Amino acid sequence: MNSYLWLLLHLSIVFSAKAEEISGNTILFSTQERANYAFDLFSLPTSHPPDNDDEIALTDGQSVNFNGYFPPPSSSILSLLLPNRSLALDPTPPSLQLLLYVTERLGFSNIYLDAYNNFNSIDFNPTRRSALEIPSRIQVPLFNPKQGDAKISMKDRPSVAGDHLIYVSTHENSGVPRKSWAAVYSTNFITGKTRRLTPYGIADFSPSVSPSGIWTAVASSGEKDWEGEVKNLNTDIYVFKTVDGSERNKLVDHGGWPCWIDDFTLYFHRRSEDGWWSIYRASLPRLGRIRTEFIAIERVTPPGLHAFTPAASPSNKNFIAVATRRPSSDFRHIELFDLVRNEFRELTRRVSPKSHHYNPFISPDSTRVGYHKCRGNSKEGTTDPLMLENLESPLKGLSLFRIDGSFPSFSSDGERVAYVGFPGVFVMNRDGSTRREVFPGTAFSTAWDWKRRGVIYTSIGPIFAEESTDVDIVSIAVDDDKNGKMGFPPYKKLSISGGNNAFPSPSPDGRWVVFRSGRSGYKNLYVMDAIEGEKGGLRRLTEGPWTDTMCNWSPDGEWIAFASDRDNPGGGSYAIYFIHPNGTGLKKVVHSGDSGRTNHPWFSPDGKSIVFTSDYAGLSAEPIANPDHFGPYGDIFTAKVDGSDIRRLTHNPYEDGTPSWGSTFIKPIDVVESPYRGVRCLFDDCHWLGHANKSEVGKLGSHPGSQRRPVVVKC
Ligand SMILES: *[C@@H]1O[C@H](CO)[C@@H](O)[C@H](O)[C@H]1NC(C)=O
Ligand SMILES: *[C@@H]1O[C@H](CO)[C@@H](O)[C@H](O)[C@H]1NC(C)=O
Ligand SMILES: *[C@@H]1O[C@H](CO)[C@@H](O)[C@H](O)[C@H]1NC(C)=O
Repeated sequence: MNSYLWLLLHLSIVFSAKAEEISGNTILFSTQERANYAFDLFSLPTSHPPDNDDEIALTDGQSVNFNGYFPPPSSSILSLLLPNRSLALDPTPPSLQLLLYVTERLGFSNIYLDAYNNFNSIDFNPTRRSALEIPSRIQVPLFNPKQGDAKISMKDRPSVAGDHLIYVSTHENSGVPRKSWAAVYSTNFITGKTRRLTPYGIADFSPSVSPSGIWTAVASSGEKDWEGEVKNLNTDIYVFKTVDGSERNKLVDHGGWPCWIDDFTLYFHRRSEDGWWSIYRASLPRLGRIRTEFIAIERVTPPGLHAFTPAASPSNKNFIAVATRRPSSDFRHIELFDLVRNEFRELTRRVSPKSHHYNPFISPDSTRVGYHKCRGNSKEGTTDPLMLENLESPLKGLSLFRIDGSFPSFSSDGERVAYVGFPGVFVMNRDGSTRREVFPGTAFSTAWDWKRRGVIYTSIGPIFAEESTDVDIVSIAVDDDKNGKMGFPPYKKLSISGGNNAFPSPSPDGRWVVFRSGRSGYKNLYVMDAIEGEKGGLRRLTEGPWTDTMCNWSPDGEWIAFASDRDNPGGGSYAIYFIHPNGTGLKKVVHSGDSGRTNHPWFSPDGKSIVFTSDYAGLSAEPIANPDHFGPYGDIFTAKVDGSDIRRLTHNPYEDGTPSWGSTFIKPIDVVESPYRGVRCLFDDCHWLGHANKSEVGKLGSHPGSQRRPVVVKC
């Protein structure tokens, strides 16, 4: 069978299984800026200063493809996986080139193996140099989504040791709130058998296999508690035997993203005491046990610029590849660092100066450096951003979508969706049709009236503002085209007394709206008349010197769920509470440890569960290896209303937030292309990498990308 046919067949099997009609319901959520990533893997030569013609696209422009790895020649075992073995086993040059990478196509994180004949032998079309042009290209997904819940987890930073794939997965609950689920696993290519290499109770990130395959190094948080800080994950470097995780030893205090150049030398990054992220080298003793005190550590890259996420190749020990942020540049670039002359050599800035480039990796023969970056605006054969991107759901009868917007909500019949776009409030049918803007300004947190068709509530004004800032609750009759200003439907201001009023949620009988207000100097909950607003009646529901916010009224009218920091006011930690609308029955339902963040609760249509955002599963990757996420620990979870049966729905290194639960089942297929078509690459690099020792706050919103999609987990 021809490889394309094989791939198509494979995809169509997945799609037809997904397209079965099931009665159930749907959760929508948002992920900061993810729709703009459009990551693909590319490579540049190391032999000369590259120009545009030297860059080759390695992946196929579907979904996002990132964190690549060129398996060493010793992993020819991989070729056994290829459907066309006569191609794979052809011993004559051009030799087969293999590439492993992470991809999020088909709604979950998977590791793919691509194989194609060596580029150097191919006569490229000079106007479009891409792996797609190679006729004998083969693509093999290494995990099958139909193998159960465990497969719906993050799979990350793949590498190969003999006939084993070594990678991070998040499929096992650490059992401890805010303790990361990231652990290193090894899967045998032939038998499919998987073994956990990280001890239980510990989180490991960024594994790297030594050239001999004997050792694996990881960035590990050990048994330390995560302090909730994303700027510095505060990992240490450990090594263990790749075969079974035994002989685990700490090599280096404070470091991450290890990579080996030989079995006794590895490079890693750390934030130095002078504030600069730099590359360091750890030299291991050649004899005897590995012990921290016998390891020589030297700083490799100088202060004056940030250098991180190193890559090395055993075939050329004269250089490493790194990502840099230079004070003179707003972009993250890949550079080579010459270890002999101690100098940098520019790579990606010569080719795409105004793009961010991430996580370099070097080919086994050291002739090329791979990395990922945004592929740019839509090209033929590549996927466009999606308005509703399907994710594989671990819960039966529930479909799960990432929306290219924030604060989505369903109408009570589940047929329509409102969301905000920063700026703008939009309404569309659940299939994405008849989308239109119903309010042009900045607004957040939408909700639909249960009784009055086409009435939505939202809060207009700045987000993350102080108690006294003017933010008002309005209702908008979205189908009333005639009476509004400038072609927008009319809206009615419901709050009138000032003081940051937000997160409106109407009662199922259509009479009341609960919301949070900062009018007393603290953000507490209030209830007002749904039609007349405050004028028609107002009462205070909660009272105290803390923040109660993000409220949601249950479908049976009995409870209001909300997020509160009352356990430690101002401490940044939120838990989910329930209260009866008459102010009785207050109870804490979900929290994620004493300093955890759990918020944005929303009831299921049957009222038996809630969906929410939480840092319950900690971080899933080193934040520096990804674009900026204010809260990369944010994932989407569900729980029963008694707080039991916590289920993780999303597994990724992104900030997922603002979930909403609707009563209809949207078929779990990506059907809806984003109206923001062609808008690409609008995302920020880590703000906290900013330059110098200047205050790191106040930089949010300084980039056009962040105007459209602000952070969603914070309160
Ligand atoms: C395998 O690949 C070779 C070389 O591209 C081709 O000639 C052959 O027909 C393929 N075989 C199958 C079974 O697809
Ligand atoms: C408050 O509301 C709850 C739920 O509807 C009810 O069970 C309870 O009796 C009410 N309490 C008072 C004092 O009205
Ligand atoms: C921070 O300040 C110190 C002292 O002024 C300086 O040496 C160092 O380079 C600065 N670090 C950064 C990251 O700018």
